[in-house]
Amino acid sequence: MNNFVFQNPTKLIFGKGQIARLAKELPRDKKILVTFGGGSVKKNGVYEQVVAALEGFDYIEFWGIEPNPKVETLRKAVDVCKREGVEFLLAVGGGSTLDGTKLIAAASVVEADAWELVLNPSLYGGTLPFASIMTLPATGSEMNRGAVISNLTTGEKYSFYNTYPVFSILDPETTFSLPPFQVACGLADTFVHVMEQYLTITDCSPLMDRWAEGVVQTLVEVAPKVRANQQDYDAMATYMLSATMGLNGFVAMGVPQDWATHMIGHEITALAGITHGQTLVVVLPGVMDVMREQKGDKIVQFGQRVWGITEGTKDERIDATIRSTEEFFRSLGLATRLSELGVGEDVCAEIVRRFRERGTLLGEASNIDYRLVEQVLRQRM
Ligand code: NZQ
Ligand code: ZN
Repeated sequence: MNNFVFQNPTKLIFGKGQIARLAKELPRDKKILVTFGGGSVKKNGVYEQVVAALEGFDYIEFWGIEPNPKVETLRKAVDVCKREGVEFLLAVGGGSTLDGTKLIAAASVVEADAWELVLNPSLYGGTLPFASIMTLPATGSEMNRGAVISNLTTGEKYSFYNTYPVFSILDPETTFSLPPFQVACGLADTFVHVMEQYLTITDCSPLMDRWAEGVVQTLVEVAPKVRANQQDYDAMATYMLSATMGLNGFVAMGVPQDWATHMIGHEITALAGITHGQTLVVVLPGVMDVMREQKGDKIVQFGQRVWGITEGTKDERIDATIRSTEEFFRSLGLATRLSELGVGEDVCAEIVRRFRERGTLLGEASNIDYRLVEQVLRQRM
């Protein structure tokens, strides 16, 4: 097991009716900016609950943080924070709203432009404190430091790291209104988060392995229930907690991580506008196949423990595991081939060109270069 430091300070407030607790958790003496996406919260009753809980607080609303939050929009919120002397931020919505808010919070306390801050972490100079009401289980953003920010002008999409949310409120009832496609993408995103932290080497941490397999097995079990009935509170609660546990550091203690699938997926989103979770299910089977030698033992362990694959040669077991994984993604109603999404050779060539130019090396062994990225993409056409 590798050395590690673990500290996750986010207070997680989970369950029915918990939005009302905002009144207890928010600072009464601070000016608050409440950030929203495009309006889903007005259709599902979340906005009314937030407004009721915020009675008596000094707050401003900022609307319009779009999916794959754009720095061009976030800069406007930074201006509001600086002009109005905002001291605390509350994001209400999906991962994009919260990710955008993480950047707003950091960019509001420095001179540097928000995109400069994304490109150059050394410009980070602290943050305004922020919290969330998360209405879409997927990113784990509610309990991690990460944010993924897009630039409309340059067509780029990069990660940015701030501190953790002070608190996050998760009421599974808020997910009842999610479009089924977002649910499918959220289940897929959660699945792949765990895989990025799991599908590397064997015997590094037996505890983390079991923990990761536990989250994935839970997803496999709950996915059909969630897809059959989105008003099933217990199923949605299980899915929601799985998403948080998939990317809050709990399955990452002392183990190497991969993240190649995400890095390639971000480029597909940046260049072709494909939704995040959808990009991941296209890419992951390709990474598993192309990296089968390096990851083979772990793929076999995964296949045995999660899909019950116990027969055949090592190569046959790897093939069967990749097939079962892809079948699970298809059972969510998602496409698993680039051609199905209309992503063609031109986009793939640009992705390969970007990785070549940047000299990026992906994966747990930092050995996935642009040539291997090209192989992955070719395999997924
Ligand atoms: O904008 P509104 O109107 O609120 O609608 C949203 C949006 O259109 C809607 N939605 C959210 N909650 C809803 C709802 N509709 C009905 N009922 C609800 N309860 O769903 C649409 C998608 O929302 P978005 O926030 O974009 O989705 P998600 O949470 O999947 O976030 C995706 C973004 O997160 C990044 C992705 O790259 C992408 O930019 N990620 C962030 C991570 C992190 N912070 O750690 C890690 C992930 O790997 C991921 O990269
Ligand atoms: Zn993700």
